[in-house]
Amino acid sequence: MKPSEKTIIPYKNSAETKKLQIAEMFDNIAHKYDFLNHFLSMNIDKIWRRKAINLLKLSNPKLILDVASGTGDLALEAARILKPQHIVGIDISEGMLAVGRKKIDKKNLTKIIQLQTGDSENIDFLENHFDAVMAAFGVRNFENLEKGLSEMYRVLKPGGEIVILEFSRPQKFPIKQLYHLYFFKILPSLGKIFSKDMSAYTYLPESVYQFPYGKEFCEILTKIGFAKVSYQSVAMGIAAIYFAKK
Ligand SMILES: C[S@@+](CC[C@H](N)C(=O)[O-])C[C@H]1O[C@@H](n2cnc3c(N)ncnc32)[C@H](O)[C@@H]1O
Repeated sequence: MKPSEKTIIPYKNSAETKKLQIAEMFDNIAHKYDFLNHFLSMNIDKIWRRKAINLLKLSNPKLILDVASGTGDLALEAARILKPQHIVGIDISEGMLAVGRKKIDKKNLTKIIQLQTGDSENIDFLENHFDAVMAAFGVRNFENLEKGLSEMYRVLKPGGEIVILEFSRPQKFPIKQLYHLYFFKILPSLGKIFSKDMSAYTYLPESVYQFPYGKEFCEILTKIGFAKVSYQSVAMGIAAIYFAKK
């Protein structure tokens, strides 16, 4: 489907679907993604992923789905902390998955983590399959958010848990103003220098600023059918971790 004028897309002059543009953008930046992620966030992203995974500790999931797995950082952290039997990571960017597979290989985790091409809005697994489903910085990129979340719900076992880490929006002075300055002025310039894809780092703030966060996102999860929906802000509202059950 051609993106509507309101849809936030990376390549504004392209008539490709959002999904194709997103896959292309992540293919373009895959080789620099990990470096930029950790550098631009000053490594805070690692702490957030750990925090999100820790929420799943109590239920001790054995079979986990990592949606929009990218280069596999969330899956690797889940393997280390939760020691599950198996983690499947799906993503639409082959470039990102290729980087992830190398990291998994290096850590001798190929028997535990399997990364495969797959669309989160049409997940190739039967319903009630996974003990836990998780996503970090992925759902914001979906072409159709509710479709993606419904699919995550469908493949989760009854009683299973979902954890979603996503950028949010700080509300308080001066973090709100600094965040805006960093996201719209500093980050696109740094991103352009290092990744050579200016669009990727203008898309990032634009997509964050139009994305539902906090209570609004929780309401969407509830509407999809999730129970016990809750969230916690991290780093003074820069990101949020959403937690729910099926
Ligand atoms: C910002 S990266 C996050 C990667 C990883 N989860 C992390 O924590 O670093 C977002 C990823 O979402 C993927 N993505 C976007 N839409 C998707 C979809 N519909 N299905 C699967 N993956 C998708 C992109 O290809 C990209 O790899």
